[in-house]
Amino acid sequence: MYRDKGCAQIGIDDVGKDIRLCGWVYRNRDHGGVIFIDLRDRTGIAQIVFNPEPLLTVGGPDTQGDTHKTARHLKAESVIIISGQVCRRPEGTENHDIPTGMVEVHVKSLEVLNMSDPLPFPIDEGGEISETLRLKYRYLDLRRPEMVANLITRYKSCKVIRDYLDEHGFIDVETPVLTKSTPEGARDYLVPSRVNAGAFYALPQSPQLFKQILMIAGLDRYYQIVRCFRDEDLRADRQPEFTQVDLEMSFVDMDDVIGVVEGLLKKLFYEIKGQQIDTPFERIKYKDSMARFGNDKPDMRFGLELRDVSGLIKDSTFKVFQDAIASGGIVKGVCGKGMASYSRREVDILTQEVQAMGAKGLAWIKVKDAFESPIVKFFQEGTLREMADMLGAQPGDMMLFVADQESVVNDCLSRLRLDIAKKNGLIGAQDNFVWVVDFPLMEWVPQEDRFAALHHPFTSPTDDDIKAILATEDMNNDERARLTSKAYDIVLNGSEIGGGSIRIHRSDLQQKVLGLIGIKAEEAMERFGFLLDALKYGAPPHGGLALGLDRLIMLMTGAQSLRDVIAFPKTQKAACPLTSAPSQVDKTQLRELHIRLNIED
Ligand code: AMO
Ligand code: AMP
Repeated sequence: MYRDKGCAQIGIDDVGKDIRLCGWVYRNRDHGGVIFIDLRDRTGIAQIVFNPEPLLTVGGPDTQGDTHKTARHLKAESVIIISGQVCRRPEGTENHDIPTGMVEVHVKSLEVLNMSDPLPFPIDEGGEISETLRLKYRYLDLRRPEMVANLITRYKSCKVIRDYLDEHGFIDVETPVLTKSTPEGARDYLVPSRVNAGAFYALPQSPQLFKQILMIAGLDRYYQIVRCFRDEDLRADRQPEFTQVDLEMSFVDMDDVIGVVEGLLKKLFYEIKGQQIDTPFERIKYKDSMARFGNDKPDMRFGLELRDVSGLIKDSTFKVFQDAIASGGIVKGVCGKGMASYSRREVDILTQEVQAMGAKGLAWIKVKDAFESPIVKFFQEGTLREMADMLGAQPGDMMLFVADQESVVNDCLSRLRLDIAKKNGLIGAQDNFVWVVDFPLMEWVPQEDRFAALHHPFTSPTDDDIKAILATEDMNNDERARLTSKAYDIVLNGSEIGGGSIRIHRSDLQQKVLGLIGIKAEEAMERFGFLLDALKYGAPPHGGLALGLDRLIMLMTGAQSLRDVIAFPKTQKAACPLTSAPSQVDKTQLRELHIRLNIED
C-alpha cells in the first residue's frame, strides 16, 4: 500500500502521528515561503504544508533534492505521495467547511508519482466550461468533488434500492441486451447479425416483455437495475442509454405496486438525504392533471393552475377567442403573479416565447385598480372580474390567455406556468411526489392516422373496460378514446421519474387490444407471438413499474442535467466525445455484416 488513509480520513485523532497520503495537487498556494497544497482524492481534501526550513528528506526522481522547491513548482493535478506529521492547525486558521479543516500535515518527504500537463480547463472552480470539453476530458471532469459526490450518491442509492427490494422478496434476474425489436414508442437501436444475413437484433427499450415472461415463468417478484436504449431526440432529461430500476410482481393490483414503490422512495430519501417523506402520495387523475396543469407531469409545488375560460367568454366580441372556439378550440388562462408591472417590451418578449412554443399569440390583461389591456374593450366588466376570480389574479398580477386547439393551449400554458414560477421564485422547497392515474388506454395519433397505446400495448384496461372490449367485435373512435387503463406514473417536482401498469394476462384480451391500436392478428403474431403464446400457458395476474434511475438521482442531487449523474454520458447528438463514438467502421467489418452503406456526403 502506498498510503495509510484517504486524504479526508485524517482528523483530530491522528494529531502527532506520522502518516502517508497520496492524491492530486488541487490548489497550490505560496504564503510567504510556506507552501500550502490542498491534496485531493476521492474522499476529499487534506491541507499539506511545506516549510522552507529545515530541509527535509526527499524522494523520487522528479524532486531534484529539495522538497520545498519541488512543492512550489508542482502543477495542478500532478499525483504525489507525501509523508509527514498530522498537526492541529494554529488557532484561527481552521476551516470549518471541510471535514479535515482542524488539521494539516507537515510534510517531511515528497515523491512525485506523475506530473500533469497544463489542464484544458481548470477543475478547481465552477464557472462555465463547455460540455463537449468536459466530456472529452471526462477523467478530469470526474475529479471534481461535486461529480464524485454525484457518483457516490448514485452508487449508494442503488445499494439502498437493492437492499429494500431484497427485503421485499424481489430477485434480480438479467435479461438480454441483444433482443427483438418491440414497439414502445421510441425508435430502436439496431445491431446487425453476422450469422443471420439481413437480420437485426434490437437493443431493449426496456425489459418489458421479458419481465412479464418471468412472471409467467412463476418468478413472482423480479427486479433489475438495467440499461435501456432509445433512439430519441435528446433533451436535458433524456439520454439514448439510460438506467431503469425495473420491477414486476405477480398476483397484485395497482395499490400493491404503488405501496412497494412508495416504501422504496421513502427509504431512499431517508437513507440518502436524511429526509422524511410522507406516504401515501397524492394521486391525481390524468384528466384533472391535463385540465389543471396542462400536462401529465404536474409540478404541484406552487399554484398558478390553468383555468378554462371558454364558457365565460362566450359573449365577448374578441375575435381571436371567438374564432378559436368556433374551430373546436378552447381558451385557457394562467395567472402571471406580480407581472402587472411588465413593460410593453417585456410583454412582447413573453409573447414571442409563447409563440416559439407553438401558440399563435398571447392575450394579456393586467389587473390594477382597473383592468388594463388593448383587449379589455371586448369584455364586460363582470366577465373580467370572473376571469380574475377563476385565475386567482389579484391587483398586481397579469392574466395570460392562449386560444387554440386544446393540445396547443395545454402545451404552451403548462410551460409558461413553469417559467412564471421560476422567474418569480414561487417554487416551494418541499419535494412533491404525486401519482398520475386513470390514463386513457390509447390516444389518437394524427401523424400516423391511428390510435396508439398511451403507456404500452401490454397495459390492462380497467375491469369495466375489459368487459366492454371482450363483449364487442369492434369499437368506434369515440369508444376507443374513452377506454381507461390501469397505468400509473410517479412524478417528482414536475418530472416523470417512473411509470408502470397492471398488465394484460389473457391472450384473447391482448390480441383484441392490439387490434384496437391497429395491429392486425398476423402482424401481432409475427411481432409478439412469443408473448401471446406464453399468455396461454397459465399467466398469473401481474404488474410492475420502472423508475428512471438517472432522473431520480438528478433530482436527488440537484444536478442540472442527466449528464452530471452518469459517468460517461452522450451529447445532444448521441455522441461520446471521450471515445469519439459513434465512428466509422472498416469495409470488411461491414461486408461481414452484409451491409452496404448508402449515404450522401
Ligand atoms: P417508461 O417508458 O415510462 O416505462 O420508462 C420508465 C422511466 O424511465 C425514464 N426514462 C428515461 N430516462 C432517461 N432518458 C430517457 N431517454 C428515458 N426514457 C424513459 C423515465 C420513465 O418514467 N417498461 C415500462 C415500465 C413498466 O411499464 O413497467 C417503461 O419502460 O423516468
Ligand atoms: P391581434 O388581433 O392578432 O392583433 O391580437 C391581439 C392580441 O391577441 C395580441 O396580444 C395577440 O398576441 C393575442 N393573440 C393572437 N392570437 C392569439 C391566440 N391564439 N391566443 C391568445 N392570444 C392571441
